[in-house]
Amino acid sequence: MKKLLLSLLLGSMTFQGFSQGNVYKQETGKFEGLAMTPPMGWNSWNTFATNIDEKMVKETADIMVSSGMAAAGYNYIVLDDGWMAKERDSNGDLVPDPVKFPGGMKALIDYVHSKGLKFGLYNCAGTKTCAGYPGTRGCEYQDARFYAKLEIDFLKYDWCNTAGINAPEAYGTMSNALKKAGRPIVFSLCEWGDTQVWNWGKPIGNLWRISGDIYPCFDCEYKHPENWSSWGFMKIVEMRKDIRKFSGPDHWNDFDMMEVGNEMNDTEDKSHFAMWCMMASPLIAGNDFRKMSKETLAILTNKELIAVNQDKLGIQGFKLSAEEGLEVWVKPLSDGNWAVTFLNRTDAPKKINFDWKKNPIKDVDFGFEADFNKTVFKIKDLWKNKEAGTTKKNFTADLASHDVITIRLIP
Ligand code: GAL
Repeated sequence: MKKLLLSLLLGSMTFQGFSQGNVYKQETGKFEGLAMTPPMGWNSWNTFATNIDEKMVKETADIMVSSGMAAAGYNYIVLDDGWMAKERDSNGDLVPDPVKFPGGMKALIDYVHSKGLKFGLYNCAGTKTCAGYPGTRGCEYQDARFYAKLEIDFLKYDWCNTAGINAPEAYGTMSNALKKAGRPIVFSLCEWGDTQVWNWGKPIGNLWRISGDIYPCFDCEYKHPENWSSWGFMKIVEMRKDIRKFSGPDHWNDFDMMEVGNEMNDTEDKSHFAMWCMMASPLIAGNDFRKMSKETLAILTNKELIAVNQDKLGIQGFKLSAEEGLEVWVKPLSDGNWAVTFLNRTDAPKKINFDWKKNPIKDVDFGFEADFNKTVFKIKDLWKNKEAGTTKKNFTADLASHDVITIRLIP
């Protein structure tokens, strides 16, 4: 009996000794499952930069609902850089700009929620945001609690003023802080692909930017005087077409907020939207809803294209072929369907004469195939919303400069 007591005592001492200093386990990792299809919404930056205010945001939320955008799936209203005052308060908390948001941020968030929408804010992993407002560096847990208390649903987290900071660590810390604060908040990483976020972002965030900023043009590079560039939408697609296997449900390659309805013409806007759908990119509108034309609205709310983007397989498409500027992009969809986009990259019109039988599709990254010698697919034109024959015959059509035709193949 004595022996037994002694060994029990020793056992418990050893156990306590072993566990000492190691009793607290930090819960890590993002909130899982918040973005099983690419997030859809609106962000203030592309049109308004830091010129944002309560009235404009409320009007945007109202139109999101009244225009049919919300019904089409757009549900996040995200305020980008410029929502804060220049200094934290005496407790070290962030301060929403009282001039831009006289009613207070919480009231605005409640308003957006009351419309059945979700709300997002922006900050930066660095000491200051890109526009010079207080950054989160060193205040991760405090800021996460601030966001949870405000009841936001989405946080975009940028990468300015981060000299000497390790990106996976900085984003990992904020992700853990959000988890600890307890409110499920979609975490949107924005390190521009500088440290190849797609290699390390999956346990940390639900989506991540893969490039520098978008510019409202088809294929241009806009060089800023401060020695950085913004990119036309096809530049971003081309730059990141080869990292498709890193994207998928709850960990999306984010091709940036859209420029649909900004400075391009309707044809280019249509191609821009089609490519964002083909790439399974988040669909975050960046235009002024209060001035939106009916053409822009029709592009952004095209149900068939949105279904391609939101397909539950969540696979980023790829370029199947390119001949003299006539490109064919394909995306495997659930139920053996495929989306196919013919894109005219050139400045002149093109004739499409596509022989399916000579162009089998093989997706080596995800293991899907379509052999048109074995299977005949019905074709649906997704912009015209009508049947367009089958893959038994060549697909023929005229395609204007910078235009697209997007079709769905149904076995
Ligand atoms: C950039 C970011 C943009 C926008 C801007 C705000 O770094 O890529 O999308 O958020 O900062 O200053």
